[in-house]
Amino acid sequence: MNLILLGPPGAGKGTQAKRLEQRQGIAQVSTGDMLRAEVAAGSDIGIRADAIMKSGALVPDDMIIAMLEHRVRQTDCAAGFILDGFPRTVPQAEALDNMLGALGVALDAVIELQVDDAAMVERVAGRFTCARCGAGYHDSFHPPRAEGICDSCGSHDFKRRADDRRETVSARLEAYHSETAPILPYYSKQGRLHGVDGMADMDTVTAAIALILSRLASRVMTTN
Ligand code: AP5
Repeated sequence: MNLILLGPPGAGKGTQAKRLEQRQGIAQVSTGDMLRAEVAAGSDIGIRADAIMKSGALVPDDMIIAMLEHRVRQTDCAAGFILDGFPRTVPQAEALDNMLGALGVALDAVIELQVDDAAMVERVAGRFTCARCGAGYHDSFHPPRAEGICDSCGSHDFKRRADDRRETVSARLEAYHSETAPILPYYSKQGRLHGVDGMADMDTVTAAIALILSRLASRVMTTN
């Protein structure tokens, strides 16, 4: 199964993509994670992307399309993938269609996580992760059980994303509405767009996505 998860920063794309990866055995492809790895490695792409990401703007289409094309050709994507953070512009959506057409791969569904902007600023500006094991926390909603100690691995070392400052989250939300939201009608016309209430708790969101996927699977079985 090949899926896209769409939604503003903090909508829960990464959270749900990881759950889908575990449950469906398909690869999570996060362009944000790929860019952060390039930044950490100090590569040419990382150096170009770093300042853009810290401003809350989108990196140029040509850069991200080349990265994504390379990634979806890797063997772990052959069994299926969940795109988390791509496409983010109409040219990226068009490039993806061309890419998948050339690979002979079909896109099964585009799932939009529908959320309120104000709540997203709170969700994103308060989050942090364990620097050793990657466990996720939130200042208000999910602090570690013992202050300053990771519940999962006991580490005292935590980190926050450079683009999770309140002002940057607002810029990222603006970029979503001006540049990414226009791809919703693009996928709606293709009959692939499904909306899910992303304000519900995480398990309810997971169940809603699972229901969409099982309906799609039974439609495919009925057609065959
Ligand atoms: P990227 O890394 O893709 O970030 P984003 O889209 O802004 O999304 P986030 O990772 O912040 O949020 P999410 O929706 O994954 O939510 P999460 O599950 O973490 O992109 C970063 C930057 O890279 C961009 O700004 C851009 O510069 C660049 N970039 C990336 N892709 C690009 C592209 N294709 N083109 C151009 N530029 C690109 O959840 C957030 C928090 O909420 C967590 O704490 C989580 O625990 C909590 N949470 C999740 N779900 C729920 C729930 N249902 N209820 C309560 N809390 C919840």
